[in-house]
Amino acid sequence: MVRIVAVALLACGAEAFLAPSAQLNTAVRSVAVSRSSALHMSTPVVDKDKEEVTEYFNNNGFERWNKIYSDSDEVNAVQKDIRDGHGQTVDKVLAWIDADGDAAKRTFCDAGCGVGSLTIPLGMRGAKVAASDISKAMTTEAAARTKVALGSDAKRITFQTSDLESLSGSYDTVCCIDVMIHYPTDKMTEMVSKLCSMATNRVIISFAPDTWYYTALKAFGGLFPGPSKTTRAYLHKEEAVIAALKSAGFEVQRTQFTGTNFYFSRLLEATRA
Ligand SMILES: C[S@@+](CC[C@H](N)C(=O)[O-])C[C@H]1O[C@@H](n2cnc3c(N)ncnc32)[C@H](O)[C@@H]1O
Repeated sequence: MVRIVAVALLACGAEAFLAPSAQLNTAVRSVAVSRSSALHMSTPVVDKDKEEVTEYFNNNGFERWNKIYSDSDEVNAVQKDIRDGHGQTVDKVLAWIDADGDAAKRTFCDAGCGVGSLTIPLGMRGAKVAASDISKAMTTEAAARTKVALGSDAKRITFQTSDLESLSGSYDTVCCIDVMIHYPTDKMTEMVSKLCSMATNRVIISFAPDTWYYTALKAFGGLFPGPSKTTRAYLHKEEAVIAALKSAGFEVQRTQFTGTNFYFSRLLEATRA
């Protein structure tokens, strides 16, 4: 009985955690359908994913995640749980950075910065941060929040609307938190390689882990009616992420895992070997 309840909760959790893609599929279906069928026939899945992700995070997804990544009371219990889980991941990243004690001397890239949940505390520690996101709505919100939080020190933080594949520059530390869920393994590998190419010292990356347990839960979640049926979200094998880091010349130094009822995320810190 306990087991069934736990699985049901976690199955809902898969639906909740993967909700960006689920809602995205619904939100953009009319847009996608109105485009030429040639697009569907010739565009690789990852490009379609990216197009949908951009659309989603500029519209419904922005509304939803802007509330989750805030103190707003307008969240349900699931969203509150996701907020708490995500907050724990950000705290773990900051704990690693604080343990090294010299954030103000380092440069950071926050790729897929969202509303600035990591960028802002980094800025408050005196770091120079180049924050970017595929969604203009996200970067606009992140810049506004940064101005409120940092005042005139906000000038140390730059914002750019860009997918991470198009980024350039060189930073001590490149962070990419909870972005990989939107892309399949081959694309994840390409993204990790890109992130590593911009890091002189370290990358910090998180992803939803592909274990038999979470895969089973995701499949189980698909048995239920509702948006989880159309969820498109990608879990990644930890070995695949580590292999991608390794082939880019990086070695894992620290790992953490955050799992709440509706949020799960594996966090890796890797430095140049
Ligand atoms: C779940 S949110 C996480 C935001 C932020 N990293 C955080 O932890 O608060 C995922 C973010 O990734 C962004 N994103 C998705 N695909 C991206 C890509 N290819 N390049 C840059 N940003 C992307 C989305 O717009 C969204 O803001």
